[in-house]
Formats: sequence, structure tokens, C-alpha cells
Amino acid sequence: MSESGSRSNGSQHPGLANLMVDFNQMQAFMEDPLVIVEGSGVRLTDVEGRSFIDGIAGIAAMQFGHGNRPIIEAMQAQLERVALTLPIYATNQPAMELADRLIDVFPPEFTTVKFVSGGSEANETAMKMARQYHKQTGNPGKYKVISRYFSYHGATLGALAATVGAARKAKYEPLPTGFLKVHPPDCYHCPFKLTYPDCGVLCAEIVDDVIRSEGPETVAAFIAEPVIMSAEAFVVPPPEYFKILREICDRHNVVLIYDEIITGFGRLGELFGADVYGAYPDIMTVGKGISGGYAPLAAAIIRGRISETFLGERDAGVHFNAGHTYSGNPVACAAGLAALEQVTGGAVLDNCRRQSKRLRGHLEDMADRYEVVGRVDGHGLLLGAEFVADRSTRASFPNNRPFGRAVGAEARRRGLIGRAGDHVWVFAPPLTSTDDEIDEMAAILDASIAETLETYEWPA
Ligand SMILES: Cc1ncc(COP(=O)(O)O)c(C=O)c1O
Repeated sequence: MSESGSRSNGSQHPGLANLMVDFNQMQAFMEDPLVIVEGSGVRLTDVEGRSFIDGIAGIAAMQFGHGNRPIIEAMQAQLERVALTLPIYATNQPAMELADRLIDVFPPEFTTVKFVSGGSEANETAMKMARQYHKQTGNPGKYKVISRYFSYHGATLGALAATVGAARKAKYEPLPTGFLKVHPPDCYHCPFKLTYPDCGVLCAEIVDDVIRSEGPETVAAFIAEPVIMSAEAFVVPPPEYFKILREICDRHNVVLIYDEIITGFGRLGELFGADVYGAYPDIMTVGKGISGGYAPLAAAIIRGRISETFLGERDAGVHFNAGHTYSGNPVACAAGLAALEQVTGGAVLDNCRRQSKRLRGHLEDMADRYEVVGRVDGHGLLLGAEFVADRSTRASFPNNRPFGRAVGAEARRRGLIGRAGDHVWVFAPPLTSTDDEIDEMAAILDASIAETLETYEWPA
């Protein structure tokens, strides 16, 4: 303990004063802590016995809810066998089996899986791999990575450099160089003040200009989430957006990376966002739902034309440099196998699509009744609403009085947890949620908006 530090704040929760909880101001968190002790299906119970509906599936990860027996049992069985298998000298059966099954659900051009333990690490891996691929194929000057404003690719330095949001980044600058940003395909707040489809999907077409202006011989990769869901924004692209990006990346030999950390494994009602948009990347990063949220597991899934350049004879020196301790961890991969079996079984995706319609119906009904719900959008069970102070101008509420945060606080008081940003609310519940559970989540959000409208202090 440092002289100025404190081992306890006298809290009734020992250890709380010694913790940092991500994205939380700890002094405030300690005053009203949420300490979860149990979960079952869509429900969580905290240490005080309060019950919450998990409308965000952990953090868009618990595809089958809490307490999923097949995953728990697969992990337990693997723990009994072996828990860590010499990650830089050996591999293990669950890792091989999961790689094999993952490749089975991808188009045949995808051949190779690189496991890691989290989404940020997967994106770091993909971006490093893109640079190395170009170096190993005669284009050593290709190093720049393009991403989109409002995107979130993770918290580690490289992933953060591709992420946007001054508030998140400023404290860690200077960040790695070689990262460029373009405007996202946000039709509701079009950065070019155009209207779809007359706009000609300029937000995608302009990427060609950006690459030409930068010099295609300097651009390594373009990284994009199929749907952007961050605390600042909720962006669903027009249907042809990714097809256009695919063509542009092919034209300039730029590695197209999809960050499907959130959108993968059924979240959008198809197995991957790439299936929804009908255009596949060169490298897809996946995390969260890959293990149903039960184990720190993520991966980069790679096209053969890229991964084959990493094969090489013993002294070729073209291997990928990483060496993460938990890469391909057998217990995490056992969870992944049990999760993949469930999500590819058919019933989960069917339910996701059905509940998506149900939930969207509820949200659209709220938009009909509440002027502040300016927009409802999303795919599958990644559905959100944007709050606006003025529907005609689509103007946001002031940042110092964010309506979305107020709704989030009210919903939590009423026992519902969702992704509440300053101006957006996003649902990403378990894909196995039932009709009643979806109705209950929507009813609580509805009541929370109504209550917030009663208490919100509008700017003069
Ligand atoms: C789209 C996206 N990419 C990357 C990440 C980072 O993943 P992780 O938190 O597992 O490092 C997240 C996390 O929320 C995400 O939503």
C-alpha cells in the first residue's frame, strides 16, 4: 500500500476500493456499486439480492444467456483434462477442432484461424498481419490503416489508434502513427449532408479517393465494424456499403478487415455481419460471442492468400510474431466449440430473427409515441434508438445533460441494463431471449423514457 493510497473506503464490499472497473469513475461507482453474484438466462442478481434483466448480454457476448449448461460442462470437462498447453511449443485438440469447425462455416477462401484472448488483441493481430503480409509480398511501404469516425476497435494502443473518440484517446496520446479516419456510413447524420440513395453511397466511394490521395503503395488495411455500436454512436450502413468497400480494397491491394467482435456469432440474425452484407473481408476478427461469453476467447480468421505467406520453411522468418500466453487456450476453445454448436444449430438464429422483429416493433412504437426517440435501427438483436432534442433537425441533447444517460440510470433503477450512451440506447440481449423477456425489456425502457421525460431539465 502506498502512503497516500487507501486499502479500504469502509465499504461493505471488501476489495471494492482496490478495484478499477473499466469506464467507471471509481469514486462514484463505490457510492452505488453493482456487484453481480449470480446469473441465469437473461437475469442477473446482485449482492443485495436485486434482480436485473441483462439487456446487453454481458456486453453483447452472452449469446445463450447466463448459466448455459453445455458450455459450462464443456469447460469443466476440459479443465479436468488440461488447462494450458505450452502455447508457444504446442497446441491442443479443442483449438484444432474449433479452428476446423470455424473454417467450415466460412467461405472456402478462408483457411486459417489465429486465436487470441480478446477483441482488442484480435484487432491488433489483424492489423499487424496486414502489414506483415504486404512486407512479405513485395509491398513493404504499405503500412497505413484506415478506419471510420465513431468506430471502436479496442483499448490497447494499436486498436485505440484505429478507434475514434477524442475523450477516450486524448490521455494516451501520442498514439501509434499511420492511422487515418474516414466518415462512417451514418445516413441519419450524413456527414456530407446527402440523402440515400441519391448520395451514391459517397461515404464508401470516397475511400477510393482517400487511398489514391494517400498513395495506394502506403495503405495496408481498412478496418470496419459491420454495425458501429459505441457509446457515441449507432451506425448501420446502407446495404451496398461493404460491397463497394470490397471492390475498392481489391483495386488497391488493401487488406479489408471486418471487426466482428460484436456482430459475429449470430448477433445480427446471420452467423456474421459479412453474411448480412454479402461481402467478405480478408481478415475477420471475432470475440465476445465466440465463446458465448464464457471464456476470454477471440480470433482472427484469415483468407488463404494471406495466411499462406506466413507458412515458410524452418528458417524462413515469415512466421507471425505474437506469443500470447492464452492464445488457443484449451478451456476457452472448449467453450468455443460448445458455443458454435449451439449457434449453428438453427434454432438460435431463428429465434434471434423473430425476437429482432418483436423488439424492433416495440422500439418503433416508442418512436411513434415519444418525440425524443428520433431513430430506431439495427439488425438482429443489436437494436438501438437514438434520442434527439429536436426531431426535425435531429439535434442531440446537450452533452452536459445527456438524455440517454438519464434513461440508462432510470432503466437500471427499474431493473434493466442496456447500453446507454449519451444519446443512444442499444439492446443486445441473449439470442435465446423469449417473447416475454423481450416484452419485459421493452416495457422497462418505455417506462424509463416516460419517467425521464417527466424529470429531465430541458435547457432554457
Ligand atoms: C467492435 C469492437 N471491437 C473491439 C472490441 C474490443 O474487444 P475487447 O473488449 O474484448 O478487447 C470491442 C469491445 O467492445 C468491440 O465492440
